[in-house]
Amino acid sequence: MQPMSFAAAGPLRGTARVPGDKSISHRALMLAALAVGESRIDGLLEGEDVLATAAAMRAMGAEIVRGADGGWTVAGVGVGGLHQPAGALDMGNSGTSTRLLMGLVASHPITAAFIGDASLSRRPMARVIEPLSRMGADVTASPGGRLPLMVRGLCPAVPIRYTLPVASAQVKSAILLAGLNTPGITEVVEPVPTRDHSERMLAGFGAALTVSTEGKARHIRVTGEAELRPQHIAVPGDPSSAAFPIVAALIVPGSEVRIDNVGLNPTRAGLFEVLRAMGADLEIVDAREVGGEPVGDLIARASPLTGIEVAPELAPSMIDEYPILFVAAALAQGRTVMRGLEELRVKESDRIATMAAGLAAIGARVEELPDGLIVEGSGGDPLPGGATVAAQLDHRIAMSFAVAGLAARAPVTIDDMTPVATSFPGFAAMIGALRG
Ligand code: S3P
Repeated sequence: MQPMSFAAAGPLRGTARVPGDKSISHRALMLAALAVGESRIDGLLEGEDVLATAAAMRAMGAEIVRGADGGWTVAGVGVGGLHQPAGALDMGNSGTSTRLLMGLVASHPITAAFIGDASLSRRPMARVIEPLSRMGADVTASPGGRLPLMVRGLCPAVPIRYTLPVASAQVKSAILLAGLNTPGITEVVEPVPTRDHSERMLAGFGAALTVSTEGKARHIRVTGEAELRPQHIAVPGDPSSAAFPIVAALIVPGSEVRIDNVGLNPTRAGLFEVLRAMGADLEIVDAREVGGEPVGDLIARASPLTGIEVAPELAPSMIDEYPILFVAAALAQGRTVMRGLEELRVKESDRIATMAAGLAAIGARVEELPDGLIVEGSGGDPLPGGATVAAQLDHRIAMSFAVAGLAARAPVTIDDMTPVATSFPGFAAMIGALRG
């Protein structure tokens, strides 16, 4: 346990960068490990979640090395070439590593055990077990479809057409990755669009992949037994990490913060749209494309915010940003209503319950709903603070309350900041630097 307190200390000012995008970093390592030849990855997130993916890909035969300049090289084994790992794959806290790697193993002739920490071992895996079993994988899970579990892959696997019952990029990606080593066409139908990094990157690596919109649904088809060509990937800064200093700048009076090189993929950028609708002075400068992903620099200036009703349809494009949006709403004028968020209950923690409890403890007015949260804002007055909140092994909860502490009358103590290392090593140092 590593408790840490955050307190108000004047405006945040200056320019910062945030670490590489977590979703893109996982996918870059996995696809590079399946290419034939050597790929290079710049800007990789060196957080524990991504390092768990790197360790697993090494255990299955890829050579993955960090260069002295911070760039990573990956010598791939080719699709179909993954080796039998010698021991269990330790996924730590990472749901993305677990679900995507289960997909990879599902269509290879290998058997792999997946283990993880207490938070990950509570999370539902049936959502991937179900489609992967249809493809022929044999999965033995702990009660409730949880970790620890064992996946015995089938090679050749059976291609499927699968309509996602939950809006989940992890489930979509698990099936597409399984489809890479499956003869024929594997198709995922998405009634609601989710982050499309897998599709963009698979196309970049040369997989035969098509995306079409039929009615409202997206149909993604990948042709199996693919040969992937090595790539040079530049990972943009993670918008989900940029969200913390941006909201901090908006709610701490007198602040102006610039975050360079932030990924602005529309399937990820819902929070920025919502903050603007609440009155945020949030500017995008130098919008550009880097390695198939939209990127820009963001400037956030302290702003009076107004509560709104957030459209539930936006949820998939900002699913990881609700904890920090709850904090922004707590400082807004009036009421913010956020619904359609059932998925938040099965993230690294139950993010509705954990945030409701912590916000109430620091004096915010919140009402917990089965599928969301209603926040009655302070109208810009600092929150009372002066309490210790439980992060529940959840990095984004810890960072959200750290930001809340910057806009509170008395310090906010987070009981354990260690989970922050999964996605944002250097978070506390960055906040310190912006405070001058
Ligand atoms: C992710 C998808 C989302 C998100 C997670 C990363 C991904 O999860 O919450 O942090 O990289 O595909 P779901 O697929 O469960 O919505």
